[in-house]
Amino acid sequence: MISAQAVSQDREVILQVRGLKKTFNPGKNNEVHAIDDISFDIYRGETLGLVGESGSGKSTTGRSIIKLDSITSGTVLYKGKDISKVCGKKDVLEFRKSMQMIFQDPFASLNPRIPVKNIIGDALRVHNLCKTDAEVNKRVNELLDIVGINRSYANRYPTEFSGGQCQRIGIARALCVKPDFIVADECLSALDVSIQAQIVNLLIKLRQEQEMTYLFIAHDLAMVKYISDRIAVMKNGKILELADADELYKCPLHPYTISLLSASPLTDLYKEKKRKRVDYDSSLHTYSADKVVGMFEISKNHWIYCSEEEVEKYKQSLSGLQMAN
Ligand SMILES: Nc1ncnc2c1ncn2[C@@H]1O[C@H](COP(=O)(O)OP(=O)(O)OP(=O)(O)O)[C@@H](O)[C@H]1O
Ligand SMILES: [Mg+2]
Repeated sequence: MISAQAVSQDREVILQVRGLKKTFNPGKNNEVHAIDDISFDIYRGETLGLVGESGSGKSTTGRSIIKLDSITSGTVLYKGKDISKVCGKKDVLEFRKSMQMIFQDPFASLNPRIPVKNIIGDALRVHNLCKTDAEVNKRVNELLDIVGINRSYANRYPTEFSGGQCQRIGIARALCVKPDFIVADECLSALDVSIQAQIVNLLIKLRQEQEMTYLFIAHDLAMVKYISDRIAVMKNGKILELADADELYKCPLHPYTISLLSASPLTDLYKEKKRKRVDYDSSLHTYSADKVVGMFEISKNHWIYCSEEEVEKYKQSLSGLQMAN
């Protein structure tokens, strides 16, 4: 079972999350356990995809690790440092520079009263990345080029752009501080399919060029597979399955993952015709208090949230799937 002492093999862990919980409105009748005891690592330079239905806690996870939401309990270590201990103007600024978020709603994430050149330029100034106005303008233009927005639009306001264009501006703003880690929260959902592919390719290129690490939150399983090295599947505030991307698609083990994959359209028309929806019965996984329940490693790097008794059953399912593939 995953524990606070778990050391992750041979790769550098940039983010370590242990026993993270986030409860909104605690003790009130509208209390929500948005994150309910999750643990995972993210390695430097990788993309961890985070998928799950609406309300499963994906955005809250992203917001918590980047310190936009306070956490109820648990620990988040970023580059070995407990983020709850990041305080003081200088440290917070350094943390914000290193970790950036691209938001779900491209319109809401940009101030409508500030022109684009200042949205990006202010971030450059706050972090002391450019000394003169000429340097700021030059860098703003470079960033607009990178995300495919015409330089001549730099004086325009967010309301004068489409959703896709606003998302690109949000990406440019996140990139301008040269972050090490980006939480991309459904950053494709407001874009049409051809633009989605362009943005994903842009993110992949930037990851290679600037050695960035991503937590990539999405509904679209196809896009998550394309960009992610590993994928975590979330439901009701818990991570139910975590595996290498290929492994998760070839050998999904948790019934919820199987259900989620069965709901995703396939590009192969022959397979798409034969695709059958599988429903998930969550009552199968209500565990009594006497059970030992947690994340168990079924095979190397393939983790499932289950009871100790279920481990053997999942191991057998996995070997069955591996033989069939
Ligand atoms: N500020 C808040 N106050 C109270 N409840 C909240 C708040 N933010 C989120 N929640 C609740 O926490 C749960 C998880 O929300 P979250 O936004 O993390 O889900 P999500 O997986 O990102 O969903 P979506 O795919 O729709 O974006 C939901 O039940 C949501 O209603
Ligand atoms: Mg969300």
